[in-house]
Amino acid sequence: MTTTALPISAHPAVEGGLQLEVTSVSVQTESIVSIILANPSGGTLPSYVPGSHLVVQYGDGVNAYSLTGSGNAPSEYAISVLRVEDGAGGSMAMHQLAVGDRVYVSRPRSAFAPVSTATHHLLVAAGIGITPVLSHARAAADRGTTSSLIYVYRPGAGAHVDEARELLGPALTECSNRTGFQEVLTEQLASQNLGTHLYVCGPGAFMDGVLGQARELGWPEARLHSEAFGAAELDEGEPFSVNLVRSGIKLEVPAGVSLLETLENAGKTIPNMCRKGICGECSLSVLRGAPQHRDLYLTDEEKAENTTMMCCVSRSEDPELELDL
Ligand code: FES
Repeated sequence: MTTTALPISAHPAVEGGLQLEVTSVSVQTESIVSIILANPSGGTLPSYVPGSHLVVQYGDGVNAYSLTGSGNAPSEYAISVLRVEDGAGGSMAMHQLAVGDRVYVSRPRSAFAPVSTATHHLLVAAGIGITPVLSHARAAADRGTTSSLIYVYRPGAGAHVDEARELLGPALTECSNRTGFQEVLTEQLASQNLGTHLYVCGPGAFMDGVLGQARELGWPEARLHSEAFGAAELDEGEPFSVNLVRSGIKLEVPAGVSLLETLENAGKTIPNMCRKGICGECSLSVLRGAPQHRDLYLTDEEKAENTTMMCCVSRSEDPELELDL
C-alpha cells in the first residue's frame, strides 16, 4: 500500500493540533466519501461539542469539515467530504486519501453548538449539510433529548441516509423535490413549541430561505442557528462602511467584496492565511457596531461579544463598523 507522507510542517491553522491516521475511506455517493481518522498510537481523541468541525491540512492549504459523530469520548473522528471539481483543491486531495495516510488536523472547534436548554432540536439539512446535523442528532439521542430532521437531497445523492433513518426513525423526513420540502418545512416550522431551536446547514440560498421563513413565522433570532459549508457558499452580502479609528479613514465595503480585500486595496497589510474564515489570522478588533460573523473560527460566545471579527469572510449587521485599525 502506498501512503501519503505528512507535509513537512503544519499549517498555522492546525498548529497545536493532532497528527492522525486515516483508518477507513468509504464511498457515500458518487461525489462524497467518508473518512475516519484515528490516533496512530490508539486511545481516545479530544471530545467535542456536537456540530463541531475539524480543520484538515492538505498540502499548503486547509479546509474545515464537520464531524459527524456525537463527540463524546471519541476513539475516532469521522468526516465526509464532497468533491468540488472547481474548488481550491482541498476536497480533491481529501478524496485521494487512503488508509494509512497521515494528516495534520486542528483540535475540533465548535461554531454550531446545540443549545442545552432547547426542548427539541429541529434540524434541516440539504446535501452535504447533513454532516453537522447528523452529529446533533446523534448527541440528542445519546443525551435523551429529542430531535427531528428534514433532509433534502437529490435522488441517489444522499449521504448518511441509512444512518439518519436508523437514528431518527419517524422523526426523519426525506425530501427530494422543492414543493414537498416547502410543505414539510412550513408545517414543521408552524407547529413547533416555544422551546424548539432550529439548526440549518446547506447552500447559502437554501439556508436563507429556511431562516427567512422561520422569521416570517415569528421565530426569534435566539432560536435560529445556521452553518455555511465554507466561504464559497457565502452570499455576496450587503455593502457597509468601516471607520478605521487609528488611521482616521473611512472605507466603503461593497457587496461581493470582502472587508479584507477592501483593506488591502486601501494599502493596509492584514495578516491572513486561509481567506476562508478558518485559520483566525485575519482577526480584527471591533470598537463599535455588530459584525455579521460568517467564520468558522470564533466560538458562539466569542461571536456574541462582537469585539473581534474575521475580516476575510465576515461583514456587518450595522451600516457602519468602527475598527481598531
Ligand atoms: S484568513 Fe483565515 S480566518 Fe481569515
